[in-house]
Amino acid sequence: MSVQIDHLLNETRRFAPTADFADQAIGTSKLYADASEDRLQFWADQARDLLHWHKPFTKVLDWTNPPFAKWFEDGQLNVAWNCLDRHVLAGHGDRVALYFEGEPGDSRAITYAELTAEVKRAANVLTKLGVQAGDRVAIYLPMIPEAVISMLAVARIGAVHSVIFGGFSAESLRSRIDDANAVLVITADGGYRKGRVTPLKPAVDMALTGVPTTVRNVLVVKRTGNEVEWTDRDLWWHDELASVDAEHEAEGFPAENPLFILYTSGTTGKPKGILHTSGGYLTQVAFTHKNVFDLHPETDVYWCTADVGWITGHSYVTYGPLANGATQVLFEGTPDTPHPGRWWEIVEKYKVSILYTAPTAIRTFMKLGRQIPQGFDLSSLRLLGSVGEPINPEAWMWYREVIGGNVAPVVDTWWQTETGAIMISALPGVTVTKPGAAQVPIPGVAIDVLDEAGVHVGHGNGGLLVVTEPWPSMLRGIWGDPERFIETYWEKFGEENPRYFAGDGARLDEDGDIWLLGRVDDVMNVSGHRLSTAEIESSLVSHPMTAEAAVVGAHDETTGQAVVAFVIIKYSHLEESSHEDIQAVLRAHVTQQIGAIARPRQIFIVNELPKTRSGKIIRRLLQDVAEGREIGDTTTLADTSVMQVIKSTLR
Ligand code: WT7
Repeated sequence: MSVQIDHLLNETRRFAPTADFADQAIGTSKLYADASEDRLQFWADQARDLLHWHKPFTKVLDWTNPPFAKWFEDGQLNVAWNCLDRHVLAGHGDRVALYFEGEPGDSRAITYAELTAEVKRAANVLTKLGVQAGDRVAIYLPMIPEAVISMLAVARIGAVHSVIFGGFSAESLRSRIDDANAVLVITADGGYRKGRVTPLKPAVDMALTGVPTTVRNVLVVKRTGNEVEWTDRDLWWHDELASVDAEHEAEGFPAENPLFILYTSGTTGKPKGILHTSGGYLTQVAFTHKNVFDLHPETDVYWCTADVGWITGHSYVTYGPLANGATQVLFEGTPDTPHPGRWWEIVEKYKVSILYTAPTAIRTFMKLGRQIPQGFDLSSLRLLGSVGEPINPEAWMWYREVIGGNVAPVVDTWWQTETGAIMISALPGVTVTKPGAAQVPIPGVAIDVLDEAGVHVGHGNGGLLVVTEPWPSMLRGIWGDPERFIETYWEKFGEENPRYFAGDGARLDEDGDIWLLGRVDDVMNVSGHRLSTAEIESSLVSHPMTAEAAVVGAHDETTGQAVVAFVIIKYSHLEESSHEDIQAVLRAHVTQQIGAIARPRQIFIVNELPKTRSGKIIRRLLQDVAEGREIGDTTTLADTSVMQVIKSTLR
């Protein structure tokens, strides 16, 4: 017997685009037709339509030495010029590029003309400091305009940025600076987070002190005004910008010039420096940003809540929106400071029309209750996006109903740091959406679901998600480690016909739509049956008592693995019922929804779940608890105390 998610599929509600939405939609079914007629021609057309090329390309793809792809190889472009100058030259200099909202409530509207001017000065500063094309620059900043300005200035001179999320420690910062041999670090005195100043400069000092380093200078943005220690290599951002020429001419660089390195964790302890290049990357982020989010740059106000320290912030805060001339909100703070309605206040204030966020945030808001968003005018919202993990149908519906007023389409977008841009998503003017499904590959992207032997699984079955053809924004490698690049992503299904193995499980429903089932390392095997953590979590969360749930496969003598669940119960229910009653009800609920095979062996009621700073549950740690082991490496936890709290509540 194989356990499937048909209980979700059978009940699935479907939402066709309204006629009004479809009529005005940017992305139409013609995109699918064009892409399937000639995939490479399709991407060449997109690259020419969406971007300005200093030197036009004549070659589209070189795939003669897989998995090392080259896109638009003989073309030249300047990524920053594409995001800035050309919009000013087209007469949009007065359009707001960034509505910056600081956590303390300070705000600043920055037009395309102003942003261009700032980036030109910053580029001149980099050159003055000896940074050359190809050099690496580390960026360790809060979510302030200078983060975007720094990235674009680095890109403008053909150098390579490595943004390190402001929540990472000095040690992580040091290992990333060292791995890339960065010559410059751009940081700030601090940032505002949860109502307090979080200093950043001390971590940079710690990362660089007492060790040989390639870093020559540290450029410091003044944001919080707190005292900072000062060394010979330090320079104030604002002084330096004031000291250089205002003009800077953007030269063209080859399409395969490296644009950035972004570190992400793999299965081993050492983070992988994922390398992205220029022309193909910018083509696919601009294409997806425009078509998946239905961007009308003259009228929309777009807001992606991700930090620039993650890939979502690179592709859908900095590069995609700015390449498309969008107006967007940039928010420094956290969703609940100084009050739990802060996000919705921002949506109301700026009349945000497109919102892109993560399921974990949506579920947190669900837990707090709909009265909070309902206290604000959210009628400007006309499109909602989700990214980062599978979105359970309940959260999808809540997002649509409570945040989207039952009219805004929801697009669930699947992609990865490695893919650079969205790979699977509905097109909101075309696709009939299903709550919980990521749905279809975007036009020009080739996806398949295979079994372990590399055979297509067919509709109605689950397997491993692969990308079968190279795509423009694909990673070009792991910085300094070509072998690891090949082993990690390309070897699973043989070398003759290289396919990119994403590490995710997925299922094709009867229509061939794609449902993500989570990382394959999160798939359990119970008595020879395949069970998805995502599936059981979705079932647990569909019970009205449950706010959040995480499921792990724990070793079991008889069944191989057993299902162990960790759940957060809504406050009102905790007051009304005993733990024993809640556990019994949830076990029965899962049994009823999926089958006895999925019934959790144990359900632990907890107050919090261990999560990374990007909100992903770290199941590995829960597995340690479930299997009675010492808890392993907790350095990627957003809140390192959470495991102690969980352990103590279980004793
Ligand atoms: C992993 C990539 C892509 C930006 C944020 C995360 C999971 C991502 C979805 C989605 C189901 C998703 C996958 C993927 N994931 N989006 N819409 N549905 N799963 O980037 O840190 O590189 O993580 O996030 O497991 O492999 P990342």
